[in-house]
Amino acid sequence: MNSISIKAKNFPENFKWGVTISAYQNEGKWNTYGKGPSIWDTFTNDIPFKNGNGNVATNFYHHYKEDIQRAKDLNLGVFRFSISWPRIFPKGIGHINPKGVQFYHEVINTCIELDIEPWVTLYHWDLPQVLENEGGWTNRNILDWFSEYAEFCSKEYGNKVKKWVVLNEPMSFIGLGYFMGMHAPGKKGILSFLPAAHHTTLCQAIGGRIIKKNVTDAYIGTTFSCSVVKPVNRLVKHKKAAQRIDALLNRFFIEPALGLGYPTDVIPGLIQIEKYFKEGDKELMQFDFDFIGVQYYFKIVAKHSLLPPLLFATEIPAVKRNVKVNNMGMEIYPKGLLKMLEKFSAYENVKDIYITESGVCFDDTLKDEKVKDKNRIKYFKKTFYYTLKAIENNIKVKGYFAWTLVDNFEWAEGISARFGLYYTDFVTQKRYIKKSGIWLQKFLGKKN
Ligand code: NOJ
Repeated sequence: MNSISIKAKNFPENFKWGVTISAYQNEGKWNTYGKGPSIWDTFTNDIPFKNGNGNVATNFYHHYKEDIQRAKDLNLGVFRFSISWPRIFPKGIGHINPKGVQFYHEVINTCIELDIEPWVTLYHWDLPQVLENEGGWTNRNILDWFSEYAEFCSKEYGNKVKKWVVLNEPMSFIGLGYFMGMHAPGKKGILSFLPAAHHTTLCQAIGGRIIKKNVTDAYIGTTFSCSVVKPVNRLVKHKKAAQRIDALLNRFFIEPALGLGYPTDVIPGLIQIEKYFKEGDKELMQFDFDFIGVQYYFKIVAKHSLLPPLLFATEIPAVKRNVKVNNMGMEIYPKGLLKMLEKFSAYENVKDIYITESGVCFDDTLKDEKVKDKNRIKYFKKTFYYTLKAIENNIKVKGYFAWTLVDNFEWAEGISARFGLYYTDFVTQKRYIKKSGIWLQKFLGKKN
């Protein structure tokens, strides 16, 4: 593979290069300026969390101007960020916090002034805690709560923002937050997972319809986490285990939106989710998205196992497999991006595809104000190469957004997992461009 020779001009003229960030991982100012608590504030503060919290994070709340300028300096054309629901609605619904509303106007205005396109994600995991007290995603009333939030944001910002993402990686926040208990709100088991997942599927489509109604010329998508899943060997039981993990990780949320229902063909036990269906849900789950966002980070090797229930499959940790791993112990496998683009584009009704996140975390160190992150450059080169391959194979990939701008609060991992193109000194809040940032800046030139 000769990735070295790839140039930005090899990509289509209107290909969009961008960067993605999220509210909780960056904003800070968790309990001031009128913001209400989110499930992540509770999860990391109430019983102090071993890997810290996002109370300060990268203080984007006060650094947004310089940070958006940083994205511009990298020659990027898109700035994707999320709105914090409890900053707009401190109590989940009802009372609106004017300072929060104004903050996102300023972020959007800064993007527009700098001629970098704002892409807004409605939900990147920070549910208002008051709503979680009522059951959060497990409570069907979330259909109304989410509708109120989506109505407000799309009406408020819709004349300036045309690119909308409804949800960020539903399987991550539902799987880790309502099944495994590893993310906020820390719930476990099938009885919270199934209703939470179904209500999320419904909100995914409801959000799309609300934006469409309120925003003229809106271009609407939603994003999915995904992983290449391989069986440990050729035994049928392991192949089937890999298929079930694949269904859970890669098919679960997209297929109902496309009218294909949940993947009960390979996970028959999933039929239990229908207990949470009401009349009309099969139609309500569907929405014709203008684009889907693919977010791919790692490959998984699967084997048959007796636990957990429904799935009867488990993953063999990458650290036991003698492969290259990122700082979170997950296998780095850039070619998997191509596989995922092929997989998602194979659905008949998928239109455009954006790589709405792609990146890698390492143990970066700052020395003489420099970070020599050669391996991140390699990662970007390889994933750009595979993106180009996909385009050559007529897959409609329209953009690539790097994760992420500056090192931030990486959820359960805290600040130890650094994904940024800029290094953050979390004590001084100073940012330092990494070698990968300089490389990307040169790669893109003044194209954007
Ligand atoms: C996907 C999530 O959207 C983002 O919040 C997270 O930081 C990255 N993956 C890296 O793990």
